[in-house]
Amino acid sequence: MKILVTGGCGFIGSHTVVELLEAGYEVVVIDDFSNSRRSVLDAIQEITGKVPFFYEGDVKKKELLRKIFREHSIDAVIHFAGYKAVGESVQQPLKYYENNLESTVHLCEVMSEFSCKKLVFSSSATVYGSPKSLPIREDFPLSTTNPYGTTKLMIENILRDLVVSDSHWSIALLRYFNPIGCHASGLIGEDPKGIPNNLMPYILKVAMGELPHLNVFGNDYDTKDGTGVRDYIHVADLARGHLKAIEYVMNTEGIDAYNLGTGKGYSVLDLVKTFEKVNHVSIPYEIRARRPGDIAICYADPSYAKEKLGWCAEKDLETMCLDAYRYVAKQAHKEEKVE
Ligand code: WQD
Repeated sequence: MKILVTGGCGFIGSHTVVELLEAGYEVVVIDDFSNSRRSVLDAIQEITGKVPFFYEGDVKKKELLRKIFREHSIDAVIHFAGYKAVGESVQQPLKYYENNLESTVHLCEVMSEFSCKKLVFSSSATVYGSPKSLPIREDFPLSTTNPYGTTKLMIENILRDLVVSDSHWSIALLRYFNPIGCHASGLIGEDPKGIPNNLMPYILKVAMGELPHLNVFGNDYDTKDGTGVRDYIHVADLARGHLKAIEYVMNTEGIDAYNLGTGKGYSVLDLVKTFEKVNHVSIPYEIRARRPGDIAICYADPSYAKEKLGWCAEKDLETMCLDAYRYVAKQAHKEEKVE
């Protein structure tokens, strides 16, 4: 079986490519390196001993997509490629709508031309907006508070309309909660360019001495310690969820959404204290005002993914913190050796 992975050099994409190769799939990757590095391909080969087929380029380019489908018999597609920075999406909404929507529409048009109608889409828990109760189930109301989240919800609706128009499509919408951690080898991980927006990459910069302290955005939420609560999930667990979704769409028709979370909520200070404990480092922090747009608490009811996909998360918060730190420490060591 041959799987096309768009954005396969990115954080979640690269971990999914590793799982696919190790499970015996052939993999074709398309990536424009807008939020990833070519060196990820070498790391994938070092981990798996295998090399995916690779095309550098923009998923919006239909002629490039057609070239890939002409040169490979693609059985299914996992679509990660897309811009994903919430703050940037607020500043540059048109860039997000054009890129995320056009890439998906063009991908589906070319898939249809080649009679490939099996798709796993990288959606997000951000489509739930601020949930009215917890844990969050897939049938909860959907609403978004930023253009990034709106592109995810719009794409989910586009794909639902596609299935209505052609019942031969089989599509899984995977709604990620908060992916953190890195592959146990320490060879692939999250490598955001510039000052990180998300909590774990920021903690990692503090741990490596690249930033002086963490800013904790609010300690006056209605939570056990006043800081925001999220459902952190190990990226390797998330990657495995994509393999289960591929198996599922290969044997079904229709479209459905699945929460990929652990079902457990941890506060900012839970994560800081766990990170400090398992990595024997200090993460100094200062309490700051709430970040606009943040919600107090968000965590999944993952039972539907368990029931339909036969998937559940396995790794705990300590493992997420250990693996995340191992990656940045290895990267720093590699850079020292080069200098
Ligand atoms: C987590 C908690 C912050 C940074 C985002 C996207 C979402 C998804 C996952 C793609 C919150 C607090 C954070 C910091 C802090 N991405 N925090 N100091 O906002 O839950 O979700 O990433 O799908 O779409 O919105 O993740 O890591 O930014 O924040 O105190 O420097 O950490 O307030 O409570 P978030 P996050």
